[in-house]
Amino acid sequence: MGQIQRVGVVGGGLMGSGIAEVSVRAGLDVVLSEIDEDAAAAARARIRKSMDRAVGNGKLDEATRDSALERLNITTRLADQADRQLVVEAVAENPEVKTSVFAELDRIVTDRDAVLASNTSSIPIAKLAGATERPGSVIGIHFFNPVPVLKLVELVPSLVTTEETVRRAGEFATEQLGKQPIRAQDRAGFVVNALLVPYLLSAVRMYESGFASAEDIDNGMVLGCAHPMGPLTLADMVGLDTVVAIADSMHAEYGDPGYAAPPLLRRMVDAGLLGKKSGKGFYQY
Ligand code: CAA
Ligand code: NAD
Repeated sequence: MGQIQRVGVVGGGLMGSGIAEVSVRAGLDVVLSEIDEDAAAAARARIRKSMDRAVGNGKLDEATRDSALERLNITTRLADQADRQLVVEAVAENPEVKTSVFAELDRIVTDRDAVLASNTSSIPIAKLAGATERPGSVIGIHFFNPVPVLKLVELVPSLVTTEETVRRAGEFATEQLGKQPIRAQDRAGFVVNALLVPYLLSAVRMYESGFASAEDIDNGMVLGCAHPMGPLTLADMVGLDTVVAIADSMHAEYGDPGYAAPPLLRRMVDAGLLGKKSGKGFYQY
């Protein structure tokens, strides 16, 4: 089996756009599937904006940007993933939506050796693998936001992922995309979110209780611990719906009250306050 050239990405939101961007910038051919024309246009605009930023700061020249964009095919038909050698699913953090995407990819992707990966933050890979008839080919490749900037990927094999799938996913992430991998067990939250999310939830509880203002909580961690951004700004950047979904998976897995989403966070999501992507969360954008 040769190196991967034909990559698929399903879902072109914050993460799927970033994964598609780094893949085309690495010289790969990408099909990105979205649900409708508006979402497809938004994904294209997000990728274009991010590449323009790289051109603006001298990290990318215009000709390379243009040839990368030519390798990007954004579609509203999942069936266009048929000839892909590796597909990364990056739809919302919802087990029902993800399992239905995996069941469809299983029917659509013709190469039985193709890698079917998920960028899930917290949903068990085994559950997604179980929606297919090729569970050995399913693996977590968990990228970090913003994808063009952050070096890490977590490689998450399930109990039945084949070594060949792990090898090909690892080669894709490291040699082709230039990311640095860590290996994690198939447990909700893997390594990073198991540590990060309780911290974000603690910050929300601190704010909810009136203990300190959002700005003071964030400044505390930026100025006092040299974090690049404070926890409430980071929660807004991740997306508050995504933070709640991750907390729910981890709480279901471990039953630890530290993983339970605080009521305020849930109410903000109910009210459509999703953070940066909706224009308002703990802060206004
Ligand atoms: N897309 C592409 N590039 C971006 C970007 C974006 N959205 N945001 C920033 N950048 C680039 C900038 O172009 C700049 O690049 P150069 O160094 O080449 O000029 C660089 O990143 C730094 O950007 P800025 O100077 O504008 O801003 P900054 O220094 O404040 O950095 C940041 C912004 C990179 C987002 C930084 O604040 C950061 O790393 N924050 C922490 C992010 C983090 O913790 N992410 C993990 C979230 S958890 C997760 O992803 C897992 C999960 O499952 C939820
Ligand atoms: P998002 O809400 O920004 O994007 C999800 C996208 O998926 C939307 O554009 C939506 O239209 C699309 N979509 C939904 N159903 C679809 C379908 N059936 N076919 C094609 N497209 C579909 O979410 P996101 O932040 O990009 O998160 C995506 C995944 O990445 C989640 O599993 C999340 O947990 C994970 N993740 C998120 C972050 C983060 O910081 N936001 C970091 C790492 C991993």
